Amino acid sequence: MNIVIFGPPGAGKGTQSNLIVQKFKLHQLSTGELLRNEIKDNSVLGKEIATIINSGKLVSDIIVANLIEKYISNKIYKSRLIFDGYPRNLTQAKHLDKLLTKYDQKIDIVLKLSVNLETIKKRISERKTLESRDDDKEEIAIKRFETYENNIEPVIDFYKQSNLLKVIDGENSISKISDEISALIEGIKG
Ligand code: AP5
Ligand code: MG
Repeated sequence: MNIVIFGPPGAGKGTQSNLIVQKFKLHQLSTGELLRNEIKDNSVLGKEIATIINSGKLVSDIIVANLIEKYISNKIYKSRLIFDGYPRNLTQAKHLDKLLTKYDQKIDIVLKLSVNLETIKKRISERKTLESRDDDKEEIAIKRFETYENNIEPVIDFYKQSNLLKVIDGENSISKISDEISALIEGIKG
């Protein structure tokens, strides 16, 4: 089974992906994490990526597509992936479908975590004290939220059309959301 999880910054994509991984033995593919790993390498590409991430905008579709294809093409992860933070625009949504078809896979469920901006600001300011993500400054977090809002509507429509979309209230507690997601996954496993 392959799962897509998306939502604004601080919605809980990473938190919930982690729980799904443990419960259903899947592999989390966070494009944000992959990009931050590129930055750590201190390469020219890494520096370019850092500038974009710290402006709250999206890294180019091609860079991210290359990163995820490495996983989709790897037999170890075949039909065992949770896409955390991919796709983020319609181009990426269509590309993901193409890539999965190329490697004889599909998306089984798409989870959208809905959270409002006030909650996001609170969660991100709390996380800032625990992790040191350069893009967790409040003004960048707001920019990330705007980027999300500006790109996500066509993605939502795309997955509504294919009947894969499940909208989850991301304002609830971590465990309540996790129970809801688990029930949805159990439901499609049959
Ligand atoms: P990415 O790393 O994906 O960041 P993001 O989308 O902004 O989301 P976050 O990781 O901040 O939040 P999350 O939803 O994972 O929440 P979390 O579980 O940590 O992307 C970073 C950047 O990379 C992007 O801005 C972009 O530039 C680039 N990028 C990434 N993917 C790309 C793509 N596909 N295309 C182009 N560019 C891309 O939770 C947050 C905090 O809240 C935690 O402290 C957690 O403990 C807490 N929390 C979680 N759930 C709850 C809850 N229910 N109640 C209370 N607290 C909670
Ligand atoms: Mg995350």
